Amino acid sequence: MKDCLYIVKDSHWKCHAGQALEGAEQGVKNFLFYAESDKLVGREQKAWRGRMDVLYRNVGKPIFFKMDPEKAHHLVVDGLAKSMALPGAEAAMRTMYGVRETSDLAVDLWGIHFPTPVGLAAGLDKNAKAVRGFSSIGFGFMEVGTVTPKGQSGNELPRLFRLPEDEALINRMGFNNEGAAAMAGRLKQLQERRIPIAVNIGKNKTTPNEEANRDYETCIRELYPYGDFFVVNISSPNTPDLRSLQHGSELSSLLEAVKQEMGRQAEVYGTSKPVLVKIAPDVSQDELEFMVDTISRSGVSGIIASNTTLSREGLSHPNAKETGGLSGKPLKERSTEIISLIYQQTEGKLPIIGSGGIFTAEDAYDKIKAGASLVEIYTALIYEGPEVNRRLHAGLQQLLKRDGYTHISEAVGAKHR
Ligand SMILES: Cc1cc2nc3c(=O)[nH]c(=O)nc-3n(C[C@H](O)[C@H](O)[C@H](O)COP(=O)(O)O)c2cc1C
Repeated sequence: MKDCLYIVKDSHWKCHAGQALEGAEQGVKNFLFYAESDKLVGREQKAWRGRMDVLYRNVGKPIFFKMDPEKAHHLVVDGLAKSMALPGAEAAMRTMYGVRETSDLAVDLWGIHFPTPVGLAAGLDKNAKAVRGFSSIGFGFMEVGTVTPKGQSGNELPRLFRLPEDEALINRMGFNNEGAAAMAGRLKQLQERRIPIAVNIGKNKTTPNEEANRDYETCIRELYPYGDFFVVNISSPNTPDLRSLQHGSELSSLLEAVKQEMGRQAEVYGTSKPVLVKIAPDVSQDELEFMVDTISRSGVSGIIASNTTLSREGLSHPNAKETGGLSGKPLKERSTEIISLIYQQTEGKLPIIGSGGIFTAEDAYDKIKAGASLVEIYTALIYEGPEVNRRLHAGLQQLLKRDGYTHISEAVGAKHR
């Protein structure tokens, strides 16, 4: 029997050995699909991919969007993690959703090779459960976490809300995660890595800000061998007071502690790794200037701009009243503006990863022209499905060509020239 993947009428997934995969989504009914993994090429592959896109839009998404958002989230992450245990599943995912590396869009930065410039933003795979799965659907890198030293349950349910009319999400998860040791255990078991993995680190809710440095140091110590780079998250709106670490002497003291711990681990393991800082969009111009100045002087390798926003401007869905961080389309302009300001202030010398409201190749390209060397998505994956990566890649190739660039690096910061 050929290597293949089925979605069958009774909603079981089957692998080539004919085994049923436990826990398949019960709602997938009356649908028959068959794809030969690793055999689909050229036009045939494109046709199947088109069908997978239609499948997500017409079957997967309506089912997921009827479910409680957090349940749907766990179903995807756990399902992706479990499915990778099946023979041929990873290859099948790559065939259906993978993006072929092309010389115009591959990025080399901080000594790391990124096969594509579009990554998965933090918060979807908080515990590094589905790294193999997310690595197979066309991302050029992914963040795992935010992880904290000790596991914690996060805020009360419900804490994740969809705003479909606004193509947005509001979350107040509160760093629910299993802790650094559990993540280290999982990442240790990964046999091969297809894309760079960034470990996004935070502090426990019960740790006062005066002791926050220790939490970030602990995460770095526990996870140093397993991350290709690290992200210091001081910008989640859902851990009380976390964002005040972005300001004043707290920021310089934290970054100094982080840099020192990264240096100590580099000596222990004989290899140095980049560390970035992820910032919030809800800052005044003065605050941003101060942050960028402090971050630049600290010697960290880059900035991720931005995290979710507290703003509720222009929303139409009733869930706009929910407390938490807003992601998706309404965040797009503000995060691009922040990228522009950082790029200008640093004269393009500090690499930026752009995050916030990217749904289309134009959205990604705007952030690149504003100054981002790489970009990442979260909300668009929920609204558009995994086919979004292929669209972003193809669209970015076209936009580069249209503007006469041969490599993405030529477009970085182009808006300011
Ligand atoms: C449900 C949810 C959980 C998130 N959790 C985290 C997190 O743990 N750490 C973090 O740095 N960002 C987190 N984010 C923010 C995303 O990483 C991203 O920066 C933000 O959503 C903007 O990108 P988007 O508009 O493409 O979603 C989360 C976002 C969402 C929607």
